[in-house]
Amino acid sequence: MDNPEQLGEAVLAEIAAVADLDALDRARVGALGKKGSFTALMKTLGSLAPEERKAFGARINGVKDRLEAAIEARKTALESAAIDARLGAERIDVTLSPRPEAEGRVHPISQTIEEVTAIFAEMGFTVAEGPDIEDDFHNFTALNFPPDHPARQMHDTFFFPEKADGSRMLLRTHTSPVQVRTMQSVKPPIRVIIPGRTFRCDSDMTHTPMFHQVEGLVVDTVTHFGHLKGCLIDFVRAFFEIEDVPVRFRPSFFPFTEPSAEVDIGCSREGGELRIGHGAGWLEILGCGMVHPNVLRNCGIDPEHYQGFAFGMGVERLAMLKYGIPDLRTFFESDLRWLRHYGFLPLDVPTMAGGLAR
Ligand code: DAH
Repeated sequence: MDNPEQLGEAVLAEIAAVADLDALDRARVGALGKKGSFTALMKTLGSLAPEERKAFGARINGVKDRLEAAIEARKTALESAAIDARLGAERIDVTLSPRPEAEGRVHPISQTIEEVTAIFAEMGFTVAEGPDIEDDFHNFTALNFPPDHPARQMHDTFFFPEKADGSRMLLRTHTSPVQVRTMQSVKPPIRVIIPGRTFRCDSDMTHTPMFHQVEGLVVDTVTHFGHLKGCLIDFVRAFFEIEDVPVRFRPSFFPFTEPSAEVDIGCSREGGELRIGHGAGWLEILGCGMVHPNVLRNCGIDPEHYQGFAFGMGVERLAMLKYGIPDLRTFFESDLRWLRHYGFLPLDVPTMAGGLAR
């Protein structure tokens, strides 16, 4: 008759020596499986006298328990060694720099919109968007354009074919209709900027049929023209990154604001070179004003209680002035050499803290 302790020692040594989970399983089956050495030992119990049987059975079971524990421990050790080996082999250095040969560029329009957004985000504005295809109400009527007002003609609108009821959809001529959509759907206080594509039937050196604007809208119970001025002066200085750039508010007219103003920044044109900053000249860069009471009313907001300001600016113009891009039409020619020259690296994400443009 075999000695269970001796047999156990041999199996324990085998378990300790296995190199992988398969070998461990073979050792387990060899000892505890159906035809294993311990199973065979158990079968000998029947041939023993009853008093011997009890003691011998207890010895076998004691050794079996130790074997099972040893197998479990070895299994855990082998499994974690396998994970360690895999982690070591599949390691990725996430701190590696991006490939220097990256070719793509961010279009100056996208970059400029990101810059404008970063500045206004810092002042607590959120971004709103609306559809390119609008109806007459949102693009004109709600914004206080009377039916036959000449300002409608000035917008050179692209109309869609007339519908059965005589109405026509149109390509929005400015981002201002999103002011209307915002006031219709959000309760004041409102503080949004609205970047987007706009369309006018016009094409020459300084006009393209599609261009971009950023609109701004603030509505609450306390905002006045002083806030409008402070907000836009701060914006202009942050955008052009010139701390003391002169800013001038010139009275103007828009149907949807009263009073209205156009904003100019100082510049010089010495030696044929345009420089933003102190100088003899002025450059118009945006339109603005206090939201007209009619507009608030058209959007379901009580003008006795609420007031605010709005502004709108052309993105291409801002980009041309800031980055010295001479010709508007080149923005949309998809010329790779132009994009390589005027485009931005994808990781140059503008932030107020990190710097707008490098
Ligand atoms: N919508 C005007 C345009 O396209 C720009 C504008 C001017 C927007 C004044 C405004 C504003 O919100 O207050 O010419």
